[in-house]
Amino acid sequence: MQEINIQSLMDVTYGLYIISSKSGDKLNGCIGNAVTQTSAEPPTIAVCVNQKHLTNQYIKESGVFSISILSKDLPRKTLGDFGFKSGRDIDKFAETDYMLGETGAPILTEYTLSYIEAEVIEQVEVETHTMFIGKIVKSDYVDQDKEPLTYDYYHNVMKGKSPEGAPTYSGGEEEKSQKEEQSEQQKYKCEVCGYVYDPAKGDPDNGVEAGTAWEDLPHGWKCPVCGVDKDQFFPLEAKVTSEEEDKAGSDLAKYECDVCGYVYDPAEGDPDSGIEAGTAFEDLPEDWVCPICGVGKDQFTKIED
Ligand SMILES: Cc1cc2nc3c(=O)[nH]c(=O)nc-3n(C[C@H](O)[C@H](O)[C@H](O)COP(=O)(O)O)c2cc1C
Repeated sequence: MQEINIQSLMDVTYGLYIISSKSGDKLNGCIGNAVTQTSAEPPTIAVCVNQKHLTNQYIKESGVFSISILSKDLPRKTLGDFGFKSGRDIDKFAETDYMLGETGAPILTEYTLSYIEAEVIEQVEVETHTMFIGKIVKSDYVDQDKEPLTYDYYHNVMKGKSPEGAPTYSGGEEEKSQKEEQSEQQKYKCEVCGYVYDPAKGDPDNGVEAGTAWEDLPHGWKCPVCGVDKDQFFPLEAKVTSEEEDKAGSDLAKYECDVCGYVYDPAEGDPDSGIEAGTAFEDLPEDWVCPICGVGKDQFTKIED
C-alpha cells in the first residue's frame, strides 16, 4: 500500500462557507470548506459535516440546508463563532444579519456573495462525517461586489502567518536577525478586526515587503483581513498605554493565539470568561482557553514590543 502524504491534502483548494440548517424554530450553522456541486441537471450540491456538529443534527432533523458563500470581509469574531464554537453553547445568529430562506434555513445577508438552498436527497456516513447531497431549490446573489473568501486566504492572511515553504518564509539566520531588528518598529492594530500590521512581516499578499514601516505603506493600503483604511488602526503600544491608564495602570504584555490569531490583551481581560481587565497573561487560570478557538495557554505567543 502506498504511503499517504497528508500534506498533499492541504493542496486541495477550497472556498469557505457557512452551512446552516434549522430544527423547529432553532437555527444553527457552521463554517465549512467541504462543499461541492455534484450535478448540473438537476443541480445538486454536497456538503460534508462532522457527525458531532449541531449543524449535522439539524440537517438530519429538517432535511434542508443552506450555504452562504462567504466574502473576505468576514470578521474574525464571526469566523470564530461559526467555525470554533458550537451552537450548543451560543446562539450564532444572535449577532449576525440573516434572512430565512424558502426552506426555512438561515442565510447570511452580510459577508456573503451568494447563497444556495437545498433539500437532502441522499446522505452517506463517511467515517467521522456525513456527506449530505441536496437538490438545489433556490439560489441567488446577495452581494456580487464582494470578493470570495478562500481557504488559502484564511490560512495565509487571516492568521497573518507565512507558512514554511511559502516564498515569504525563511528560517535562515540572516533573516532571523533582520526580523529581530525590524520587530523594534511600531506595530499597528486594526480597530475593526484585530489584525496586527507588523513591519517585520509586511503584507506580502498585497505586495508590501517585510521591513516596510507603517508610515511607508502604499497609499490606499487597506487592512488585509477586513478591508478598512489605515485610519482605523492604532499604534499597538500607545493604545495599551491609554487603556492601562484608564483601567489598571499596568504595562502588561499581550499574547496572540497561534491557531486563530486572537490577541489576549491584559488591559481588556476576557470578561466573557470571567477574567477581569488588568489580569496578566501569566495570571490567567491554567484551564483558561482561547475564547475564539478554544486552545490552551500553551498555544499563545507573546507579542514583543
Ligand atoms: C476554516 C474552517 C473550515 C471548516 N470546515 C469544516 C467542514 O468542511 N466540515 C465540518 O464539519 N466542519 C468544518 N469546520 C468546523 C466547524 O465549523 C466547527 O467545528 C463548528 O464549531 C461546528 O459548529 P456546530 O456544532 O454549531 O455545528 C471548519 C472550521 C473552520 C474554521
